[in-house]
Amino acid sequence: MSFSRVKGFILGKIRKFQKISLAKKLPLNGYKPGLKSYVDNLSDEDLSELNGLLDWNSFISDANGRRFGMVAWGSKRIEPQEIPDKRIVAMHQRFNLNGQHVLEVGCFEGVHTLGLLQYAGKVTAVDSRMDHVVKTIVRCGMHEKSPAVFKCDVELKSQDYSLLACDFIHHVGVLYHLRDPISHLLALKHYVKKGVMLDTHYSLSEEADSSYIVDGREYSYKRYMEYGKKESFSGMYDHSKWLLLDDIVACLKQCGFDNVEIVEKRSERNGPRVLLYAST
Ligand SMILES: C[S@@+](CC[C@H](N)C(=O)[O-])C[C@H]1O[C@@H](n2cnc3c(N)ncnc32)[C@H](O)[C@@H]1O
Repeated sequence: MSFSRVKGFILGKIRKFQKISLAKKLPLNGYKPGLKSYVDNLSDEDLSELNGLLDWNSFISDANGRRFGMVAWGSKRIEPQEIPDKRIVAMHQRFNLNGQHVLEVGCFEGVHTLGLLQYAGKVTAVDSRMDHVVKTIVRCGMHEKSPAVFKCDVELKSQDYSLLACDFIHHVGVLYHLRDPISHLLALKHYVKKGVMLDTHYSLSEEADSSYIVDGREYSYKRYMEYGKKESFSGMYDHSKWLLLDDIVACLKQCGFDNVEIVEKRSERNGPRVLLYAST
């Protein structure tokens, strides 16, 4: 077993333990009321059962201010998630998603999926983890929504791109988990017609200590450890490559997304992060 897998395994056990003790303390009631849904009609007992059936790592509140889902661990996602997320509102203002088909990569537990469904004509949501696919379907079903949701590791080379065909892609918190982010970015031209909303960590040039070659071109990156399949937020492999921002932009332009606008750069606990829009 590799070092990252052992570390991932131990971390997973610690987080599970943290979660079990948090579950005992975390109230079911008392949150800011959220969207109306079938959850509103459940008894507290039924909702608690639903919250325990799946391994939720985020929660939203129902119209009665009750928790639907669970926190991840420690201090991660301890507030009800906002729907729609402000980046989705901004994406709609920029691209006008009405009647458009949006692909959401790394849908996690369906929180952004619900936000996108408020604007887009059609939403397809994919994630590399089956349990996230199931949670997204349940979360959306409870809100009377039925997006296309399926398991897909966007890094797999043998993709049927027709399943991913869309007008716009919502790409938040996933690129920096990939082992081969350059090939993934370059492949967007096969299935994204009009535009990209990308929110990702990147590497500063002074931090990029390795490089790899794709299609004869060398790309610098910072190697980042990932915990593999077992860890809910992680990439699927032992490491990811954090790219230089200039290379991310160059790949998008190479795909035909000539208009790239960086709207925000922020410094987060794990490193620098960017929000950008790219369109044809
Ligand atoms: C940090 S979470 C971000 C979730 C969500 N997009 C958000 O912003 O809240 C990363 C998500 O990407 C998924 N993921 C990781 N590697 C992936 C891959 N190769 N293909 C598809 N999804 C992947 C994970 O399962 C997880 O749901």
